[in-house]
Amino acid sequence: MTENEVEIFVFSGTGNSLALARGIARGLGGGRISRIRADLFDRGDIFSRASLIGFVFPVYFLDLPDPVRTLLERVELPRESRIFAVGTMGRMAGPALDEVRKILRTKDRDLAWAFEQTMPGNSVLFPTSPAKRPSVLAESERRAEDIARHIREGQPVREDRSRLWEYPAREFMRWNYTGMHRIGQKAAVEGKCTGCGTCVNVCPLDNITQGQGSIPRWEDNCADCFACLHWCPANAVQVGTFKVNPEDQYTHPKVKMGDLAH
Ligand SMILES: Cc1cc2nc3c(=O)[nH]c(=O)nc-3n(C[C@H](O)[C@H](O)[C@H](O)COP(=O)(O)O)c2cc1C
Ligand code: SF4
Ligand code: SF4
Repeated sequence: MTENEVEIFVFSGTGNSLALARGIARGLGGGRISRIRADLFDRGDIFSRASLIGFVFPVYFLDLPDPVRTLLERVELPRESRIFAVGTMGRMAGPALDEVRKILRTKDRDLAWAFEQTMPGNSVLFPTSPAKRPSVLAESERRAEDIARHIREGQPVREDRSRLWEYPAREFMRWNYTGMHRIGQKAAVEGKCTGCGTCVNVCPLDNITQGQGSIPRWEDNCADCFACLHWCPANAVQVGTFKVNPEDQYTHPKVKMGDLAH
């Protein structure tokens, strides 16, 4: 397949979804990766001309990241295109992929393929231990090939079998973690910040501003992606009252900071 035939929209804070999307594109024989970032939303119309269109994103609180929801609502998709979605997660995707279907149905479209993929968790609340990360990553590389094969062979796959209890679980998470939600507004720099600007560069929503070499400032438009926290070389970004140790910081080993930076 060519770059023009396949387009994969990716939202990613710590690289899992980007690495998986790249693996899927490789398995499909090529494809354009379009990052879901502030600059995408700055365009007037958002559309794709590809015949195979994918959405790859992390699950947040058993739901979609806000920018993914906004993109799905806004993007214009060719009528004859086939669509797949992959939710990457630490443990449980809940009804996140179901949300994708619901939004697509408002456009008279549906998912031909829906995949859930376990990857190292970056939520800080339920981290994947450093010792477990290599095996989880190796498995996800195999799965990228597998996902691409299912798509190439045209076999429909539906892994989003959300159980009924996951809907109240999602409501509970929304309620219980409200204080933690919108982490970016709570990021404290704790006297460790060197003013390097990495957080400013990796933020997909341009939510962090900084004067020359000074301490950065978090604005109100945060997607909770935790990129600023995990990529900070000084471990200076904290989540409210949670203590995030350097060993809890995680980024996908095959994704470089420059791959996510503006
Ligand atoms: C705010 C937040 C909420 C999360 N919620 C969930 C969740 O409900 N279920 C889950 O399995 N993983 C959850 N995770 C883990 C991520 O979905 C997972 O690590 C994902 O692969 C990260 O993708 P990325 O590296 O592309 O950003 C959450 C992560 C964050 C930052
Ligand atoms: S990445 Fe960390 S050290 Fe660098 S400016 Fe941001 S908070 Fe400061
Ligand atoms: S402020 Fe931090 S957590 Fe919020 S969107 Fe930007 S990088 Fe992600």
